Amino acid sequence: MIGRKVPDVTFRTRVRDEAVGGPNPFRWQDVTSDDYFAGKRVVLFSLPGAFTPTCSTYQLPDFEKLYSEFQAEGINEIYCISVNDAFVMNAWGKQQGLENVKLIPDGSGEFTRKMGMLVRKDNLGFGLRSWRYAAVINNGIVEQWFEEEGFSDNCDSDPYGVSSPQNILEKLREKIAA
Ligand code: BEZ
Repeated sequence: MIGRKVPDVTFRTRVRDEAVGGPNPFRWQDVTSDDYFAGKRVVLFSLPGAFTPTCSTYQLPDFEKLYSEFQAEGINEIYCISVNDAFVMNAWGKQQGLENVKLIPDGSGEFTRKMGMLVRKDNLGFGLRSWRYAAVINNGIVEQWFEEEGFSDNCDSDPYGVSSPQNILEKLREKIAA
């Protein structure tokens, strides 16, 4: 995976726009892989679903809290991607009070499929979702890769360890020290 370019995908996001008026002033906005990744060094982490317990209690809030520590290691943005639509991702971001981490809705799973990370979660009634992984991506090229063990369909558990912000920070610091 290291050295690979991220897939070219257009994400369908929803953004607030007061010009829309009415009780729900949001409109569609297309955002491409280039918009997210070109000319930046970012951390991308991917998880099985918005609002799920491990993701909501540990992974996303911990990335949010540790944002300035990632910046100190030369990371410009932290992105969280999930196979969920823009409405779900926006609601999750609001519930989490996010100010730092940016959420990417991969509703159709196209980015996740092209990354080779799409798995079945029919055992949970989830359908196709992302295996949990994270990556440091520099100008669209994967620089470091953190994939949880046991990639498989209908996995009984969803391992969480190597893709934690604490582990990625440790690896970024080791790289700078080396
Ligand atoms: C979680 O806790 O992150 C989780 C729970 C059920 C399915 C997938 C993830």
